[in-house]
Amino acid sequence: MEARLVGRTALITGAGSGIGAACAVRLAAEGAKVVVADINGKDAEAVAVRITKAGGDAIPMVTDVTQYAQVQAAVDETVRAWGRLDILHANAGITPCLLPVGECPEESWQHVLDVNLTGVFRCVKAALPVMRKQKKGVILATASMAGIVSSPSGIEYNVSKTGVIMLMRHVAHVYGPDGIRSIAICPGWVDTPFLEPLWDAFGGPGRNILRQSSPLGRFATAEDVASSVAFLASDEASFISGTAFMIDGATSAGSPIKRGMVARGYMAVRSTVRRLQGKPPAKLEP
Ligand SMILES: NC(=O)c1ccc[n+]([C@@H]2O[C@H](COP(=O)([O-])OP(=O)(O)OC[C@H]3O[C@@H](n4cnc5c(N)ncnc54)[C@H](O)[C@@H]3O)[C@@H](O)[C@H]2O)c1
Repeated sequence: MEARLVGRTALITGAGSGIGAACAVRLAAEGAKVVVADINGKDAEAVAVRITKAGGDAIPMVTDVTQYAQVQAAVDETVRAWGRLDILHANAGITPCLLPVGECPEESWQHVLDVNLTGVFRCVKAALPVMRKQKKGVILATASMAGIVSSPSGIEYNVSKTGVIMLMRHVAHVYGPDGIRSIAICPGWVDTPFLEPLWDAFGGPGRNILRQSSPLGRFATAEDVASSVAFLASDEASFISGTAFMIDGATSAGSPIKRGMVARGYMAVRSTVRRLQGKPPAKLEP
């Protein structure tokens, strides 16, 4: 393992599970001191313990990104403990209601945007004064392939992630002169607990269809994303800023799925929509 982040401090939101947890472990393994922030205090604690047992430095924080005061407290704690904030990874996110826009309840629209987009905005607002004073910092936010490629359902999720991409471009544009880099991370399908509502809805056939949507024939692991995040947070990526960094195994480049499978993928989504409407699912051939 390289040690590209020795002497750096990092604050990661949604770090109690999946991608955020893998990033916390990876950044710590590369030498960073990490504040492990999550709405779920038990999960944050478990990740911080895992890091410290491996010889790293970590502090767990209960942080709900929909509450500005809690986000500010996480930034303050990073600076109080270690004197600076070098890396912000605004990663916390939630799944959408899996309905097309015509059936998307306003509450789901508001809630997904509040966590996935305004949550990143709150993190950026709280971190910028510290990083501008330091004249150095890296702001990463987990967007998604879904911020670039439209989906037949979950539009509030797509919109939230497109917003995150533009927010990162804006930060890179305006605060680059302060020594701040900013990048939107855009994973494709990553095998984490995040996808469980989809598997509940799609069942086995849906899972296989989605797995094959990458020409590489598999889902990403959280560690696949974490290795890119460690690189982007390091000085090796010192001229990468203002971009949407795809980690999708070429899923958005062109899928190897045959025409019949595309139709079945569409049927899987329709099936979900029907189930949520209380109707019998559309029939999927094995
Ligand atoms: N898994 C995928 O396929 C995938 C693909 C692209 C992008 N993403 C994005 O990656 C990010 C992480 O997702 P994951 O796959 O690791 O999911 P995950 O469910 O494993 O982890 C998400 C974490 O965010 C936390 N969280 C939820 N609401 C929060 C809030 N209000 N404040 C603070 N923390 C909160 C959860 O407690 C959880 O620990 C999300 O932004 C997600 O949209 C995931």
